[in-house]
Amino acid sequence: MQSQFPRKPLRRLARALPAAWYREPRHYQRELERIWYRHWVAVARAEEVASPGAWRRVELGEQPLLLVRGEHGVLRAFYNVCRHRGSALCSDDEGTFERGRIVCPYHAWTYDLEGRLVATPRRMPTPDFDPRRFALHEAACASWGGFVFVNLAGRRARPLLRSLGAAPERFARYRFDRLRIGKRIVAEVRANWKLLCENFSECYHCPPVHPELVRVVRAYREAGAWGLRGPETSPEYAPGARTLTLDGSTRIPPFAALTEAERETLYVPWLVPPGLFLNVHPDYVNSHMMLPAGPARVRIVYDWLFEPEHLPRGADLEHYTKLWEITNAQDARNCEWQQQGLAARPFRHGWYVPQEFDCLRFARWVRAALGASTRARTRRATRRRARRAPAR
Ligand code: FES
Ligand SMILES: [Fe+2]
Repeated sequence: MQSQFPRKPLRRLARALPAAWYREPRHYQRELERIWYRHWVAVARAEEVASPGAWRRVELGEQPLLLVRGEHGVLRAFYNVCRHRGSALCSDDEGTFERGRIVCPYHAWTYDLEGRLVATPRRMPTPDFDPRRFALHEAACASWGGFVFVNLAGRRARPLLRSLGAAPERFARYRFDRLRIGKRIVAEVRANWKLLCENFSECYHCPPVHPELVRVVRAYREAGAWGLRGPETSPEYAPGARTLTLDGSTRIPPFAALTEAERETLYVPWLVPPGLFLNVHPDYVNSHMMLPAGPARVRIVYDWLFEPEHLPRGADLEHYTKLWEITNAQDARNCEWQQQGLAARPFRHGWYVPQEFDCLRFARWVRAALGASTRARTRRATRRRARRAPAR
C-alpha cells in the first residue's frame, strides 16, 4: 500500500469504516486476532538486537514477546513466557542473556538462545519428563530493510517478502538495511490505530494542519489534488529544496546508490499495513512503527534513519529531525481530536472525499483482512460439519 502521486481520485463520496470500529473493545479484540496477530508487524530495528544474546521485549497488542539474537546471528521471536508455570522471562525492556542462557526468574528453568529447555535446577526426577516438550513458544520473525517483523501466525505465516508488495523493489537502492537510528522518539497517542493509518494515507488535511510541511512539499498545498487534475502547473517542491527539512536544505549527501530521479524525489510516503509508515527522502528516512495498545491507544516509535557514515550530530541532526517532529505531533493531535469526536452517538461513519482514495484502499484492506478470516472460519466449520455428518 502506498500513497504516491499521481493516483486516481474517487468519483463520489465513499463511506468510511463504522465509527464503532474505532472505539469498541469487542471489535478491537477482533482486529487483534484477525489483523495484528496474523500479519507481519514491524516491531524493532535490527540494530537494537545486534549481537548474540541481545534481547528486547515487545508488546504486540496484548501479546508479550521477546526478540532474541541467537548464536549465529539468527533473530528469533519467542513469547515471553516460561513453559513451567508461565512466569514472564524478562521484565526489563532490553538486555543481554549471559552465557547464551535464558533463565526464568521464578524457579530458574533455563533455555538456550534457540528456545530449547536445557536445565531445570532442583527439579525432582519423574519418568514423564521430556525437556523437548518444553521449548519456548515461538513466533515467526524476519527482517527487511533493517526492520524486524514478527508474525504470530508462526509456521502458517506467508513469507514476509510476499506481504510487502512493491516496497522491496521500489526502495532497493535506498538500502534501508544499512541505515542507523540517529534519533528516536516514543509516543503514546490516544487514538485507534486505524485513524493513524488513514491520516497517513491522505494529505487533504495538510494545508490547515501542516504549514511547515507544505512550505517544502508545495504539491500538498493543493490538499492532495496535485497531479490529479491534469497537467501540473506548479512545481512539486519549493524551489531549491533538496530534501525534506524545514528549509529544504541538506547537510549530508544523498544515499549513495540512488538514481538521479530518486535524488530529485524529495518525499515518498509509504504505508506497510498494519503498522509501518515510511517517510522516505533522498538522504534520510523517518519511520513510524506503530503498535496497538488498546481500542483508543497506540504506541509509536518514530525513528530518523541515516547512512552510518553520514550520521548527523548536534545541530545537524536537529536540522534533519525538526520537520517530522513538528509534523508527527500535528498528526497525532489530529487523530486524538478525531477519536474524541467519534464517541458522538449520532455519528455512524465518516465520508472519504475524492483525494482520500488511499483511505478507501486502506478501509478495503481492513475489511478484507477481517472478512478473509471470517470466510476461512466458515470453511473450517463446514468441513467440521461434513466430518460429523453420518456416512450414507
Ligand atoms: S515459572 Fe519459570 S521456572 Fe517456574
Ligand atoms: Fe499529516
